Amino acid sequence: MKKQFFLVVACIGLLSVLLVGCGTGNDNTSGDSGESKEILEIATSADFAPFESRNENGDIVGFDIDLANYVAEELGYKLEIKDMKFDGLVGALQSNRVDMVLAGMSATEDRSKNVDFSTPYNHSGEMFVTLKDSDVKKLEDIEGKTIGVQLGTIQQEGAETLQEDYNFELKTVDDGTTLIQELITNRIDVAYMDKSVAVGYIEEQDLAGFDDPTTSSPGMAIAFPKGSDLVEKVNEVLEQAEESGKLQELKDKWLDEQE
Ligand code: ARG
Repeated sequence: MKKQFFLVVACIGLLSVLLVGCGTGNDNTSGDSGESKEILEIATSADFAPFESRNENGDIVGFDIDLANYVAEELGYKLEIKDMKFDGLVGALQSNRVDMVLAGMSATEDRSKNVDFSTPYNHSGEMFVTLKDSDVKKLEDIEGKTIGVQLGTIQQEGAETLQEDYNFELKTVDDGTTLIQELITNRIDVAYMDKSVAVGYIEEQDLAGFDDPTTSSPGMAIAFPKGSDLVEKVNEVLEQAEESGKLQELKDKWLDEQE
């Protein structure tokens, strides 16, 4: 009888150890203790090359993914990546379903009410992307056209602001890759998107485009649940990465053809 009792106690003990082990990175204060690394769960939206996209094998690759791996390595975590719709990322942080988001997310004041941001790691602007033979060549030409944006992005917000001055139809799509498909198949006249991403599509799909002279987007940063103790640690890693040239190395690898 006694033996069985101990066995049960031992099992419960083991089970709780296992459960604690399964917690996400910011549940625990301790860093890497040696053999089995804690998991750092991040979320992204893999529709935003060169920051995050799926390669031909279906793996998620890009600037943000390399940066996430670097951060995880420096802090002694094993990285796990969840792919979600961009529009769901802030909610995933708010409900503590993930420890961090790396998704080319601009650190806006509005989002800062719900999540914490690291120091910015990249700056970009906005572009209007069109088919090559389009008659939309400058900002004023968007009048009367149909413009597509990705749902939940600062480009959606930016386009809504532009609607105060220009009269055009706004179409939101929840997937960044779909946005370009919409353009190529003539379902929208213009795709309004992040410049670093736009230049890749313009080149790859032989499209045209021009800069939005009205925008001043905030930098892209890593996002965390409010109050996460990872913010400070990650900022230290980012600072090191800046000083050591690691950040520049990643920019050269992924963003070098863009200016
Ligand atoms: N920088 C823009 C924003 O923060 C767009 C980011 C879209 N990212 C993505 N992975 N689809 O709203």
